[in-house]
Amino acid sequence: MIKAPRGTRDILPPDTALWNHVETVVREVFRAYNFQEIRTPIFESTELFARGVGEETDIVSKEMFTWEDRGRAESDKGQSLTLRPEATAGIVRAYIEHKLGDRGLNKLFCIGPMFRRERPQKGRYRQFYQIDAEIIGPAASGSESPARDAEVLEMLATLLDRLGITDWTLELNSVGSSAERVKFNDALRIALEPEKDKLCGDCQRRAVTNPLRVLDCKVPEDQPIINTLPRISQFLDEDSRKHFASVQEILKAVGVDFKINDRLVRGLDYYTRTAFEFTHGALGAQNAILGGGRYDGLSEALGGPPAPGIGFAIGEDRLVMTLAEKTPAETVVRKPDVYIAPMAAMNAEAARLARELRRRDLVVDLGDENFRLKKSFEAATKAGAKYILIVGENEVKADTFALKNLATGEQVSVPRADLAQKIRG
Ligand code: HAM
Repeated sequence: MIKAPRGTRDILPPDTALWNHVETVVREVFRAYNFQEIRTPIFESTELFARGVGEETDIVSKEMFTWEDRGRAESDKGQSLTLRPEATAGIVRAYIEHKLGDRGLNKLFCIGPMFRRERPQKGRYRQFYQIDAEIIGPAASGSESPARDAEVLEMLATLLDRLGITDWTLELNSVGSSAERVKFNDALRIALEPEKDKLCGDCQRRAVTNPLRVLDCKVPEDQPIINTLPRISQFLDEDSRKHFASVQEILKAVGVDFKINDRLVRGLDYYTRTAFEFTHGALGAQNAILGGGRYDGLSEALGGPPAPGIGFAIGEDRLVMTLAEKTPAETVVRKPDVYIAPMAAMNAEAARLARELRRRDLVVDLGDENFRLKKSFEAATKAGAKYILIVGENEVKADTFALKNLATGEQVSVPRADLAQKIRG
């Protein structure tokens, strides 16, 4: 038997109804904040992620699905391509390529699959889905303002509340400008030098390549040493400090709770200043429902104009998983309103009726004249239909049909013209 590749999965009905429900609510909420949809390719040049996300990150150094293009055209030959591990780099690439800065401030979102070769476990897949949103534009459009950071965070709080996920925690930090981070990284390197041999293997490597990431270590034995390390807050300059204070001030004013976590560093290199995660206890080890932050230098790192930005990505798999505990998929599935059971030689008449009722926005399941009545009833019950509608020769002649409520057993005779209304109830 051929199975889906490791770390990928099929999302089946009725679960798909829950996914659609989430996406419908997301689109409604995003609309209220004037976000518009963007779609970018699911594969891009490998260089985009190397330069955008950062060579030293786990994502780029070990988790990407990368291949060399075998195209015969000179322009394709030997081109290294990668399935997108995240959406931000591609959106910023599109921003640069199509000069979206000319439009002023852009509020963009996209929903789609991302790919990372991680060790699969609950809530962690090799193909997973993100709901990603970005605010990006020239500084003159206000893209750098702490008002944008707060707006994005308030929107997320609203979205989660609307979905009925209320017991989340917003963890907030400022990771400083890139200049501040250079100083911080140097200080960490110095502080780690005498201690690093006592840390886990990953941290020993990070202490050299990307000391910031040591702060993200979850190994219990490493924590006493990590707790003594310098914190980014000691390295923020006046402007960064003010920016972070404004974000907090607005969040308090609009009533969005948050917790400062000065060890929150995030796993991608483009972040500057505000960085955040929303966590949820029920998720276990992979408890981040979403993460994001500011990336004021990313456009320039990709060869574009200055274009400060802030955004986030929700792990849709994790969001749906959290939601499923309270809202079983069955409760959001729309079951058939009616199952039409054609008697012998009545397939065409039944199809006509189905067409009429579907045009009146009813969900119609259509049977087959070869089914015996008993089998039709079984099929209608299995599909969860509210009514069964019998279409026999006599009914067609009289233009009046037998309609039976499958829950109550009540059966009535209904003229064709009244059917839709009667079924709708
Ligand atoms: P990220 O933290 O790498 O950020 O991913 C965001 C979210 O995607 C995570 O919080 C998690 O819910 C979900 N996620 C990540 N990896 C997996 C996986 N293997 N399986 C299931 N879910 C996963 C980013 O990707 C940034 N691009 C977010 C961003 C947008 N920052 C600014 N703009």
